Amino acid sequence: MTFRARHLLGIEPLAPLEITTILDLAERYVDLNRRTVKSSDALAGMTQINMFFENSTRTQASFELAGKRLGADVMNMAVALSSVKKGETLIDTALTLNAMHPDLLVVRHPSSGAVNLLASKVNCAVLNAGDGRHEHPTQALLDALTIRRAKGRLQRLTIAICGDIAHSRVARSNLILLGKMENRLRLIGPPTLMPPGFADLGCEVYDDMRAGLQDADVVMMLRLQRERMDGGFVPSMREYYHRYGLDADKLSVAKPDAIVMHPGPMNRGVEIDGEIADDINRSVIQDQVEMGVAVRMACMDLLARNLRAERGRKLVEADV
Ligand code: CP
Repeated sequence: MTFRARHLLGIEPLAPLEITTILDLAERYVDLNRRTVKSSDALAGMTQINMFFENSTRTQASFELAGKRLGADVMNMAVALSSVKKGETLIDTALTLNAMHPDLLVVRHPSSGAVNLLASKVNCAVLNAGDGRHEHPTQALLDALTIRRAKGRLQRLTIAICGDIAHSRVARSNLILLGKMENRLRLIGPPTLMPPGFADLGCEVYDDMRAGLQDADVVMMLRLQRERMDGGFVPSMREYYHRYGLDADKLSVAKPDAIVMHPGPMNRGVEIDGEIADDINRSVIQDQVEMGVAVRMACMDLLARNLRAERGRKLVEADV
């Protein structure tokens, strides 16, 4: 097996072969999820706790479904009703849950780096479900699986990531993953939402959609992350849609078989035209959601195998 990690905190530490291992296993879970009986015993006897300190629909629901389909006991911590609201810190909350012997902890947090810090304090495997502007590794993996299935490969593609690059952990994790897989990466967005330095990392940077989308194989739209903006980054939603919203006219310069992606939640009429989002010949947005369950099953399965192996080694060492 070529995936040895204890946690899944980001794409940054993963080697291309590890990414491929996750995607190959996820393919098997895509098949399982399409059957009437979707159960597996990969996590039987294990306990998974989901802690979401930020809102989520797709990630929370798919991690919960993934754990249940793999046979884990899954608990969703209701953060809004928890002692976090009485002032308990993230670390104290994590240590409290750790004392209940979970095996997998799935964490989303608004602060970049919070999930890495938490992982250093607990005994179980930690999966990052999105931390601030830092990383959203399972989103990048599910996007990679969606692209690989649609295009038949994950290399040598021209991929345009468009919109609010500055505030997006999805963009960051995707850039790292798709860069490791040797794709041609373009970033398109207003200069106010384009952090400096990406050109030095080998990305082509555009502030004009039609120029950036020329002959693209993959068009990945991003949500305007207004909750992370502390000033006026765009003049108005109307102006933003006019210049950067994906519509049929702007998409017409991409390759005729270019796919359209969006991690969700979507703001129709802000970053994407509703008809493009719903066009089953171009949009793979619902495929992304489907791949999300399979990818999260694969990630938890692999981490559980590593956890069992680590515990087995410790038992042997204790015996010696
Ligand atoms: N893509 C994504 O992370 O969506 P949610 O915020 O709904 O989980």
